[in-house]
Amino acid sequence: MYFLVFFQLLSVLSLWPVATSAAIVKRGSTCTVTPLSATPKPRRSIGTRDLAATIDDTPQILEAFKKCGKDGSIVFTEGIFNIRQVMNTTDLSNCDISIHGKFVWSADNIAYWLRSTYSVTYAGRSTAWLFGGKNVSMRGYGKALFDGNGQAWIDQNKNNANQNGRPISLTVWKGTNIYIDGITWRQAQFWHTFIAHSQNVTMTNLDMNTTSNSQWKAVNTDGTDTWNSKDIVISNWTVTCGDDCISVKGNSTNVHVSNIVCHESGGMCVGSMGSNSGQPDYVDNVVFENVTLFHSSNAAWIKTYPGQGHVKNVTFRNIHCNDVNQPIYVTSCIYSGNNCDSSRLGISDVRWENITGTSRYNIAAGIHCSSQVPCTGFSFEDIDIKPKDGGTAKVMCSNVKNQASMGLTCNGACPGNWPQQLSGNR
Ligand SMILES: *[C@@H]1O[C@H](CO)[C@@H](O)[C@H](O)[C@H]1NC(C)=O
Ligand SMILES: *[C@@H]1O[C@H](CO)[C@@H](O)[C@H](O)[C@H]1NC(C)=O
Ligand SMILES: *[C@@H]1O[C@H](CO)[C@@H](O)[C@H](O)[C@H]1NC(C)=O
Ligand SMILES: *[C@@H]1O[C@H](CO)[C@@H](O)[C@H](O)[C@H]1NC(C)=O
Ligand SMILES: *[C@@H]1O[C@H](CO)[C@@H](O)[C@H](O)[C@H]1NC(C)=O
Ligand SMILES: *[C@@H]1O[C@H](CO)[C@@H](O)[C@H](O)[C@H]1NC(C)=O
Ligand SMILES: *[C@@H]1O[C@H](CO)[C@@H](O)[C@H](O)[C@H]1NC(C)=O
Ligand SMILES: *[C@@H]1O[C@H](CO)[C@@H](O)[C@H](O)[C@H]1NC(C)=O
Ligand SMILES: *[C@@H]1O[C@H](CO)[C@@H](O)[C@H](O)[C@H]1NC(C)=O
Repeated sequence: MYFLVFFQLLSVLSLWPVATSAAIVKRGSTCTVTPLSATPKPRRSIGTRDLAATIDDTPQILEAFKKCGKDGSIVFTEGIFNIRQVMNTTDLSNCDISIHGKFVWSADNIAYWLRSTYSVTYAGRSTAWLFGGKNVSMRGYGKALFDGNGQAWIDQNKNNANQNGRPISLTVWKGTNIYIDGITWRQAQFWHTFIAHSQNVTMTNLDMNTTSNSQWKAVNTDGTDTWNSKDIVISNWTVTCGDDCISVKGNSTNVHVSNIVCHESGGMCVGSMGSNSGQPDYVDNVVFENVTLFHSSNAAWIKTYPGQGHVKNVTFRNIHCNDVNQPIYVTSCIYSGNNCDSSRLGISDVRWENITGTSRYNIAAGIHCSSQVPCTGFSFEDIDIKPKDGGTAKVMCSNVKNQASMGLTCNGACPGNWPQQLSGNR
């Protein structure tokens, strides 16, 4: 009897840190956050259910951002931080975040996420974490790991495209002077990252891998997408995903992408864009360089809907392909193959330089521009793509205004409904 009371007292005491969020320690302007799972586990003997399964670090993470997110720093220690709720940390300023541990997003509450994720307005998509402010850094030192429990999302989505409410892992939202470095993602819920309404964003040394181990594919797990943003630097990434590796979407200006390795992905991509034909979409001044692709769908490509706006001044340089389905692809009517020639979204001043390696079939490039606004200022230099099974790779093109002087010989016309991914030689 005496012993039982003693143990009950111990249990209550060990629950105390959970209840008070005492896992945040603030010294000066630095908040240090320890995961709740690192505090002693509550005992079952007092009749409570096993709380370990439902530990939620979200409240204390948000509290740390509130306490130290302005003119401060936040240190997340080693250990597992369980995140069971959406996070909005967009009002940070002069804040340096260091993450040494693992952030794990729950997936036993998919219905919660589907109804609670924050809209990012683009194409009805939404996110688990809105992250932004002014002068903010987030460093992971190669130790931080973001685990989205993506297999559960892949399995419930069953190969469908773009499920409403399915969360983008991290969205840089209305951020200025944002620096993100040294973070590893495994099994993201949806797109790994998204950069929207932001300026001067640098994201370096990131490692992402979302791979399905079930019969369902890891669709829509893009490495990143940029939209309505400018002055973006993306460098030193390794991405394994079931969709676009790096995708520059509408109203992106001055984007520099370099030193990227992509597996099982869509490679370097401008688009899709122009989906709302009543609203113009612009992409200007983009460089993709020093990129290696393995077993991917495309390498250096541009996809637009038959909309309005423009794509101008894009360089794809030093891109090496290993078994890429269709390395170079340009379309004015992505996904539908309809109304390609009525697109008013002009594509101009695009350079492909030093694009090498192997294609899956006998096609190096398929290019269909709108006949209403033909592509201009295309230039190709040192294109050396060989079908992986031997022979020579063909180039198909239609409606390129400077075709004769562009530096690459077209072997035939490319119809509007030419597919993004081929299923055999043509
Ligand atoms: C996120 O937080 C900011 C700053 O507190 C607020 O202005 C904004 O409305 C919030 N966004 C959402 C979607 O709740
Ligand atoms: C952000 O940093 C810049 C340059 O260091 C500085 O001029 C500006 O005042 C800072 N912004 C805020 C909100 O502190
Ligand atoms: C852009 O952001 C970086 C941090 O990534 C900062 O060092 C730099 O001063 C910013 N540039 C400008 C022009 O504010
Ligand atoms: C990505 O993860 C899968 C599953 O764990 C693994 O088989 C694959 O090798 C990884 N890709 C890379 C490039 O490490
Ligand atoms: C990219 O990675 C290389 C090799 O690890 C390193 O030397 C370089 O500093 C990194 N670049 C950036 C911008 O972090
Ligand atoms: C892109 O920017 C233009 C001009 O600023 C604006 O009219 C348009 O609505 C934007 N498009 C999207 C899709 O946000
Ligand atoms: C084209 O883009 C590059 C790289 O962003 C930039 O340096 C150059 O000034 C741009 N050219 C024009 C004409 O805007
Ligand atoms: C890309 O690779 C070329 C050739 O190796 C090199 O000269 C250039 O500095 C690299 N660019 C970047 C941004 O690392
Ligand atoms: C062409 O790209 C490859 C990487 O794919 C690089 O090693 C090589 O240096 C580049 N050639 C030139 C002339 O820059």
